[in-house]
Amino acid sequence: MGLLATNNMPVDKKVNGKNTGEKKLSPRHPFIHPGSALSVTHFTLEDVRHILEQATKLESMNIERRARLYAKRRVALLFYESSTRTRTSFELAAKSLGADTVLVSALSSSIEKGESLKDTGITLRALGAECIILRHPNSGAPYLLAQTTGLPILNAGDGIHEHPSQALLDLRTILTRLRGKRPPKSNPIEKINERTLRGVTVAIVGDILHSRVARSNALLLPRLGAQVILCGPEPLLPSYAAGIGPGVEIERDFERALAKSQVVMMLRIQKERLAGLQLDLDDYTQRYQLHLDRFLAHAPDALVMHPGPMIRGLEITSEIADGANSAVAEQVRHGTAIRMALLARALDAKPSRSKSAGGRA
Ligand code: MLT
Repeated sequence: MGLLATNNMPVDKKVNGKNTGEKKLSPRHPFIHPGSALSVTHFTLEDVRHILEQATKLESMNIERRARLYAKRRVALLFYESSTRTRTSFELAAKSLGADTVLVSALSSSIEKGESLKDTGITLRALGAECIILRHPNSGAPYLLAQTTGLPILNAGDGIHEHPSQALLDLRTILTRLRGKRPPKSNPIEKINERTLRGVTVAIVGDILHSRVARSNALLLPRLGAQVILCGPEPLLPSYAAGIGPGVEIERDFERALAKSQVVMMLRIQKERLAGLQLDLDDYTQRYQLHLDRFLAHAPDALVMHPGPMIRGLEITSEIADGANSAVAEQVRHGTAIRMALLARALDAKPSRSKSAGGRA
């Protein structure tokens, strides 16, 4: 996870106490544009509140007025991996704000001819891109693009590292559902502090090891007071995963995890990242599939979430995916609002050479 380890301000690299002249780069490197969204760990709770507020404001705005906000601003979508929900909602979000968008995908560009990420980024900047949304199979790629272009970079999923906009839209989905029955004025979903999700347990189930969605949620939700239970078999959930941070525990027994949870987030097995790992799918399905009998017996009131794509019949059955407790379609809808807010933040922020990309409060 190379770049994951560089979580400090840039410092001189020393060997035997001597300065080597090299700098260790980091997410808080001064050349990272402050409008970037590379990791949920870069957001303060105040940032999270602001993003949720903006999402609500932009979502409820008159369509014509909204389309004038960032008219003719240029946003590039750079996708090295396939995507349906994230790509479409980022694109719709940018267009709703009036921005011009261009999609560059690995299979139809010079990337296929071997052009590096750095050169592709510099080319997009030369063509007038003011913000790049990047999905890449390598963890840390958005940091490299941010450092080499100086543009605001929105991480649309990097390898097994993070998917910050997914965690924010998941948070908005949870808050909306949990507070749905209360009057919005007295208890707006944007009320964000370390107690906002106190008493809420979220089970994240399945291929945790390869899931950037699991990582971003496990890093964000406990900061608002939630308890996160990671659930899955050892090959997909190594024991060290509990060390991701406070408020995170491991429970291998799915039914015990369900019984404690108000929210259950199912994940698909990331076949493209298994790298030779052999899994007994029948055994997996037997132990970890969310099906109606299991759900009714252990968590009949829980909110069911899934970032998609769902593999029906494997981690989830259609009865659950299409059932009354499923928030899967709502997650997709919240995605557009959250991504409008992230784009507005990116296009509004002024580049700064002395200010970091944001630090945790
Ligand atoms: C992702 O891009 O990480 C997806 O939203 C989840 C998945 O691919 O399973």
